[in-house]
Order: sequence, then structure tokens, then C-alpha cells
Amino acid sequence: MMYNYKKYVHNLISFLYIIIFYTLLSHVLSVSFAGEKDKIFWNKKYETEAYIFGKEPVEFLREHIDLLPRGKALDIAMGEGRNAVFLAKNGFSVDGCDISESAIKKALDLATENNVKIHAFVADLETYKLPKNTYDVIACFYYLQRDLVPQMKEALKPGGMMIYETYTFENWELGFEGPKNKDYLLKPNELLDLFKDFKIIYYRELVLNNKKAVASLIAKK
Ligand SMILES: C[S@@+](CC[C@H](N)C(=O)[O-])C[C@H]1O[C@@H](n2cnc3c(N)ncnc32)[C@H](O)[C@@H]1O
Repeated sequence: MMYNYKKYVHNLISFLYIIIFYTLLSHVLSVSFAGEKDKIFWNKKYETEAYIFGKEPVEFLREHIDLLPRGKALDIAMGEGRNAVFLAKNGFSVDGCDISESAIKKALDLATENNVKIHAFVADLETYKLPKNTYDVIACFYYLQRDLVPQMKEALKPGGMMIYETYTFENWELGFEGPKNKDYLLKPNELLDLFKDFKIIYYRELVLNNKKAVASLIAKK
């Protein structure tokens, strides 16, 4: 009887180990396959010679550049570098990352074209760990990864500023070009809530030029 009981417990524990192992394995695989899928998708989009998002910075960044403390900046999911290069031209020392190698290459070409240097590197932000207490400014344009926000906050130095703009759910409701997946769209006041422990310098939600619906924020750590 005792023997059977021991055997039962042993089998149960082995069974639980197997379940935990396969759950962890499937999680790791789904994260890395998702990353691989995104990389392929974006590399394909960027493979054309043209700059699909243009060479000029996001208007919100251009308009508010003077509010941002000079120093070291990080451009999250920088794409072809329009914003990173603008930051570099305005005296920032710029790091920029993106999952797409084609984007990084185009960003470096754009920097050369503008006679500035940027440190551009390939990184999957689903797994990459941002360095802590490093940046005076973090810029994030048209990229939404909610679980990265705590890391962005930690990566800023005290007094550092976040500048963020991306699509709201309204963008989809109004049928504008942009993400269809609701995971990539902000709910009303969501960006404001995500940075409610920072000092809000500027916040807006609006439809821009009848072309896109966005939320924009500048917040200080
Ligand atoms: C809409 S584009 C915006 C690019 C740039 N911020 C701009 O405003 O021009 C979104 C960017 O996110 C990048 N991206 C998507 N998933 C990513 C991930 N997991 N890690 C890093 N970058 C990612 C894409 O390669 C793409 O360049």
C-alpha cells in the first residue's frame, strides 16, 4: 500500500514536471516565433529603396524638441531612423533599436546622408532588456508594447523625459491606415494612465489632418 502511494506521488511529480517543462517550452517558442514573424514582416516592408515613413521626423517631435533635456536619447523601434537622425541633428547622442535589419541599415544610411552619427542596433524588444538609469530622453513613435513601459521608465535617468506618440483605437474606428490589431491601439486616456507616476508635461488625443488618430505625450521622471 505504502509502496503504491510512493509510486503514485512519484508519478504525479514527474507528470507535473513534464507539464511545466512543455508549458515553458511553448512559451519560449511562441515568443521567439512571434519575434521571427515580426522581423520577416518588417524586413519585407522596408526592403524597398524608398523611406516608407519618410525622412522627416514626426511633427510632434519637431514641435517639442526644445522641451527635451539634451544628452543621451534612445529611439525605441526606430524604423528607418527619421526621428533618431533628427535627435542627433539636435545635439543628442542617440541609440536606436529595431527588430528589422533592413530598418537599421536604412537608419544608418539616413544618418550618413545627414552627416550625423547614431548608434543603431537590431533588437527584439519583446526580449531585449533596456539598460537602467541611462537615458535623458526616450522616444517612442508608432510602437506599442505595454509591458515595455516599466522598463522604459527604469531606463530613464531621474529628470529624464519620455516622448511618445502612437495610434488610438479611434484610428481603427475611423477607418484610417494603421494597425487593425487592437493590441496595438491605445484606449482613451491609456497613454496618460501608463505614465501617471511621471510629471505630465504635455498630453493630447486627437485626429491629425483627418489622416490618423493618435495620443501624444511628454512626461518627466
Ligand atoms: C510603425 S513602425 C514605426 C517606426 C518608427 N518609430 C517611426 O516612427 O518611423 C513600427 C516599428 O516597430 C518595429 N518593431 C516591431 N516589432 C518589434 C519588436 N518586437 N522589437 C523591436 N522593434 C519592433 C518595426 O520593425 C517597425 O520599424
